[in-house]
Amino acid sequence: MIKAVRGTRDLLPPETALWNFVEAAVRDVFRAYNFQEIRTPIFEATELFARGVGEETDIVSKEMYTWEDRGRAESDKGQSLTLRPEATAGIVRAYIEHKLGDRGLNKLYCIGPMFRRERPQKGRYRQFYQIDAEIIGPASAGSESPARDAEILEMLATLLDRLGIKDWNLELNSVGTPNDRTAFNEALRKALDPVKEKMCGDCQRRAVTNPLRVFDCKVPEDQPIIETLPRITQFLGEDSRKHFDAVQEILRAVGVEFHINDRLVRGLDYYTRTAFEFTHGALGAQNAILGGGRYDGLSEALGGPPAPGIGFAIGEDRLVMSLAEKTPAESVLRKPDVYVAPMAGMNAAAARLARELRRHELVVELGDDAFRLKKSFEAATKVGAKYILIVGENEVTADVFSLKNLATGEQVSVPRGELAAKIRA
Ligand code: HAM
Repeated sequence: MIKAVRGTRDLLPPETALWNFVEAAVRDVFRAYNFQEIRTPIFEATELFARGVGEETDIVSKEMYTWEDRGRAESDKGQSLTLRPEATAGIVRAYIEHKLGDRGLNKLYCIGPMFRRERPQKGRYRQFYQIDAEIIGPASAGSESPARDAEILEMLATLLDRLGIKDWNLELNSVGTPNDRTAFNEALRKALDPVKEKMCGDCQRRAVTNPLRVFDCKVPEDQPIIETLPRITQFLGEDSRKHFDAVQEILRAVGVEFHINDRLVRGLDYYTRTAFEFTHGALGAQNAILGGGRYDGLSEALGGPPAPGIGFAIGEDRLVMSLAEKTPAESVLRKPDVYVAPMAGMNAAAARLARELRRHELVVELGDDAFRLKKSFEAATKVGAKYILIVGENEVTADVFSLKNLATGEQVSVPRGELAAKIRA
């Protein structure tokens, strides 16, 4: 038997109802903040992620699904392609390619699968889903304003509250500008130099190439050393500090709670200034339900115009997982309103009735005239229909049908024209 590849999985009903429920709520909230959907390809040129996300990150150095295209045309021969490990780089590429900056401030979102070759465990998959949103545009359109950072964070709080996810925790930090970070990296290098030999192989390399990435280390033995390292907060310049203070001030004014976590640097290289994660206790080790931040230099790094931006990605698998504790999939699933049960030879008449009822936006399960009445009742009960509608020769002739409420057992005769209203009532 051929099984799904390790780290990938099938999403089956009824659980998919929960996914639909989440996506409907998300689209609703995004609409209220005037975000619009963008769809970009699930694979891109490898170079996009190398340059966008950063060569030294775990994502690019270890986790990408990359292959060489075997296209016959000279133009695609040997081109290195990669399944997207995240959405931001592709969205910024599309922003540059289609000159979206001409439209002013862009508020964009997308929902779809991402791919990372991580060790699979609860809440961590190799194909997982993100709900990603970005605000990006020329600085003249206000893309750099702390008001945008706060708006994004307030929107997330609204969304989680609306979904009924209660005990989330917003961890907030500023990772400064590249300028601030030059000084920070210098200090980190200095602090790491005498101790790096005692650290894991990855950290020894990071200490030289990209010391900030030492904070991504998960090796328990390295943590006491990492604890002693300088924090970015001490290296923020005047502008970064002011920006960060302004974000916090708005958050306090709108009543969104947060905790400053000065160790939070995020695992992607493009971040500048505001960086954040929302965690949720019930998720266990993989407790980050979403993450994001500012990436003011990303467009330029990809060869585009200056285009400050801020965004986030929610791990939809993890969001559904935190939701499923209190909201079983069955509770958001719409069961059939009515099971239409044709007696012998009545398939056509029943199909006509079902068609009429569905046009009244009822959920209709249509039976089969090969079923005896008893079997039809069993089938109606099994799918959880509220009513069963019997379609026999006499009923069709009289144009009056017997409708039975499967929960109460109450049975009534209803003329064809009144069926939809009676079922909905
Ligand atoms: P990220 O922190 O790498 O950020 O991923 C965001 C979220 O995706 C995580 O918090 C987690 O919920 C989920 N996630 C990541 N990897 C996995 C996995 N293997 N299995 C299940 N869920 C996972 C980004 O991707 C940035 N592009 C976010 C962003 C948008 N920053 C600015 N704009």
